[in-house]
Amino acid sequence: MSNESLANLLKEERRFAPPAELAANANVTAEAYERAKADRLGFWAEQARRLSWETEPTEALDWSNPPFAKWFKDGRLNVAYNCVDRHVEAGLGDRVAIHFEGEPGDTRAITYADLRREVSKAANALIELGVQTGDRVAIYMPMIPETVVAMLACARIGAPHSLVFGGFSSDALATRIQDADARVVITADGGYRRGKPSALKPAVDEALTQPGTEKVRNVLVVRRTGEETAWTEGRDVWWHELVDRQSEEHTPQAFEAEHPLFILYTSGTTGKPKGILHTSGGYLTQAAYTHHAVFDLKPETDVYWCTADVGWVTGHSYIVYGPLANGATQVIYEGTPDTPHKGRWWEIVEKYKVTILYTAPTAIRTCMKWGDDIPAKFDLSSLRVLGSVGEPINPEAWVWYRHNIGGDRTPVVDTWWQTETGAIMISPLPGVTEAKPGSAQVPLPGISATVVDDEANEVPNGSGGYLVLTEPWPSMLRTIWGDDQRYLDTYWSRFQNRYFAGDGAKKDEDGDIWLLGRVDDVMLVSGHNISTTEVESALVSHPKVAEAAVVGATDPQTTQAICAFVILRGSAAEDEGLVEELRAHVAKHLGPIAKPKRILPVDELPKTRSGKIMRRLLRDVAENRDLGDVTTLTDSTVMTLIQSKLPGAASSED
Ligand code: WT7
Repeated sequence: MSNESLANLLKEERRFAPPAELAANANVTAEAYERAKADRLGFWAEQARRLSWETEPTEALDWSNPPFAKWFKDGRLNVAYNCVDRHVEAGLGDRVAIHFEGEPGDTRAITYADLRREVSKAANALIELGVQTGDRVAIYMPMIPETVVAMLACARIGAPHSLVFGGFSSDALATRIQDADARVVITADGGYRRGKPSALKPAVDEALTQPGTEKVRNVLVVRRTGEETAWTEGRDVWWHELVDRQSEEHTPQAFEAEHPLFILYTSGTTGKPKGILHTSGGYLTQAAYTHHAVFDLKPETDVYWCTADVGWVTGHSYIVYGPLANGATQVIYEGTPDTPHKGRWWEIVEKYKVTILYTAPTAIRTCMKWGDDIPAKFDLSSLRVLGSVGEPINPEAWVWYRHNIGGDRTPVVDTWWQTETGAIMISPLPGVTEAKPGSAQVPLPGISATVVDDEANEVPNGSGGYLVLTEPWPSMLRTIWGDDQRYLDTYWSRFQNRYFAGDGAKKDEDGDIWLLGRVDDVMLVSGHNISTTEVESALVSHPKVAEAAVVGATDPQTTQAICAFVILRGSAAEDEGLVEELRAHVAKHLGPIAKPKRILPVDELPKTRSGKIMRRLLRDVAENRDLGDVTTLTDSTVMTLIQSKLPGAASSED
């Protein structure tokens, strides 16, 4: 699409109605909102019946000790049984659960019957290693099927897992092992990334030399790359030696609905990581319901693909627990989108005839930068629903995604949620909602969210403030592992009886919700609150800008001054004139108060491995400070490059 037609599309503020056929056959219709509004707890009790319970719960919510919720507390179930065995028992054993695509091009098709065998063997192996119900297991793995098997094996025996993203350093791994007091670590020799084997086991070895990790008895190692691997006799065990010789029979035992399922440390762009605790019955209910509702999953015919890493909450809820509870067929891809070529994702969509794709705005913007011609070479006509998660998606990227990937047919669902919420909270429904590019729009049926001001008053339509959740929900975090006080302080103390999400948001004239980024990122300029997201969105709406990151830097005159870091599109030249043009462009879109004081063209932006911009580091640069903790950064050379460009920024200052 030409830039001009894109600009026109956006100018018209186009609304996209659900495709008629999808609407006519949608899993969830508008009536669900009414039903949930009339009886919220009854609605969730009904959703809990999607699961197979050994003992059915008689009560939905116990909120007698807020904010410590108990959902379905007298119900008992086994999460792994719900994700695997019951589908086999229903005669679906031959259905493919996972189409695995390794980065080097190796493939595996794993049916639900295969999955039951593998999960049972892995559960028996963990038991042989002495893992007991309640023990924590750390998982530090690449994107391979054994990772899913390991998670389900833990769930099956009631041993909470703690996944640590494979891109994290040994220090980050050690901290998480210590905090969760893990007894076993499951890892691999490595995985494939960017065309090469990338080792994982050395980071585990290094982490286990650190104090506080002594209680780790065993390291269970999957052989993926076959590279030479250092070995600690008596502690390290090969997966293929231990798991493969186990019995394929394991009878799952039911646990209480509130039995801990996993701990996941928030990726967070600031502060000490928080171990977010999720439990079983409520979590699985909402993961399964939202996957069914938001993606309109038809398990018999759909091929679903979530590109997230399983080490993030998106991977937990929308690769493992939601899709498998629903009996979905899905694709899991090990590697990076540009290996061996920039069309790899689209080649995979074509090959497996993927119908539902769930990815992140950062990936969409990267594809925009690489050019429309790349996806255009592949047959993407199987796609029928597209999803986005992780950050606000700017309208340009939303429209590009729907046009270039969705062929102008597919709804795009912009799903807002957090590690803490466990599952999707605010999102359009693909068969119901008239979509607005850039807005997550409405709380799902059974979810209560609103926007409030500093005094906790709900703001009228057309105004901004803080996003809060006003009623407990089934997949909510239960606490921060080992730190109830921090749970209270972080989420429940800013506003009384309301969960404070930490995000800024506004309601438009229709009452639809637009997310404006973390409140820590909101800038104060001459007495005005200005959202980094809005300035970034304005910059990206300029045809020469591919990506933008905006921060507020301390300024003696205006409290904070707006500093923007921009990545230009391929052919755009970097000169004084352009910087002025961009400043004027923002002023025209958002008003003179939002005009950036400085704009610095850069080649890359500092991002966490989950794709979030680390504004804290950019603030350090903008305020000429030494850089803080860079350990969660994808590529630390990025910051050196940005700093080396800084003198240029000073000269473009007024
Ligand atoms: C934060 C949570 C949810 C799984 C991945 C991230 C931001 C997430 C959206 C969205 C605007 C979004 C928020 C949120 N966020 N989705 N659709 N629109 N912002 O999980 O690492 O816990 O991050 O991501 O700021 O609070 P997470």
